[in-house]
Amino acid sequence: MTNAPENKQVTITNTIEPDKEDKKTIYSIDNFNLWYGDNQALYDVQLDIPVNKVTAIIGPSGCGKSTFIKSLNRLVELVPSVKMSGSIKYNDKEIFSPKFKVEDLRTSVGMVFQNPNPFPKSIYENVVYGPKTHGIKKKKILDEIVEKSLKEAALWDEVKDRLNENAFGLSGGQQQRLCIARCLAIEPEVILMDEPTSALDPISTTRIEELVQELKKDYSIAIVTHNMQQAARISDRTAFFLNGEVIEYNDTDKLFSNPDDKRTEDYITGRFG
Ligand SMILES: Nc1ncnc2c1ncn2[C@@H]1O[C@H](COP(=O)(O)OP(=O)(O)O)[C@@H](O)[C@H]1O
Ligand SMILES: [Mg+2]
Repeated sequence: MTNAPENKQVTITNTIEPDKEDKKTIYSIDNFNLWYGDNQALYDVQLDIPVNKVTAIIGPSGCGKSTFIKSLNRLVELVPSVKMSGSIKYNDKEIFSPKFKVEDLRTSVGMVFQNPNPFPKSIYENVVYGPKTHGIKKKKILDEIVEKSLKEAALWDEVKDRLNENAFGLSGGQQQRLCIARCLAIEPEVILMDEPTSALDPISTTRIEELVQELKKDYSIAIVTHNMQQAARISDRTAFFLNGEVIEYNDTDKLFSNPDDKRTEDYITGRFG
């Protein structure tokens, strides 16, 4: 999957030149539309994802949150019926351009899913999976990556004496932190998370939320959550999606305290969704 497949309609719109002085945006999304077959799932999405901040994506079930986040790493292309138009730029490069190398996204954008999905391997082998795929073989280097990644994912102390045990022996919350460690091991720039805590108990959820706050010092994070309190607690910017449209994209404090759009207000006050 190196190029946008020919049967997919990818028109690149002429977008505003990014401000070269401003390095604070990692993704610029402009007039992005997406269809599954004849059903349009995203409409004219327009937003910038800032560097070293947490951007929350909220909205009711089926509004296109997962579709949007999977567009950012081109995972959405795995669905054969998908068609797209518009622009998603990563570091000023058009990701759906035939010239863009999808490997560049795979090595710099990590993803964490709703249900922890460790491989049926040891804790150690889960973490080194990406680095090994990228050709790192030296045991000493791999050992260092394992320790660093597990420490960053706040899991090291719990697993350092059982690195060779199967990852399935960990609790759900530990498995999710292992998936985060696996993602950190490739040294990404961006971490995409799709409802990473919705399958976890409250204590594990708090640990992941604290971890996200730590990680934003070094990574740019986009997190889908249907938990509005979570978005309010951990994010800097929030985008509210409804029926495939971005209704409002604002500083999190502003969006939750004094939203610009009546539909945002209705949603955050629990009137629908
Ligand atoms: N693989 C798919 N094939 C067809 N339609 C899909 C697929 N994935 C999602 N959709 C549709 O796209 C819309 C948005 O879905 P999704 O992005 O999963 O929303 P959310 O994550 O906000 O719940 C829904 O109408 C859903 O049915
Ligand atoms: Mg979803």
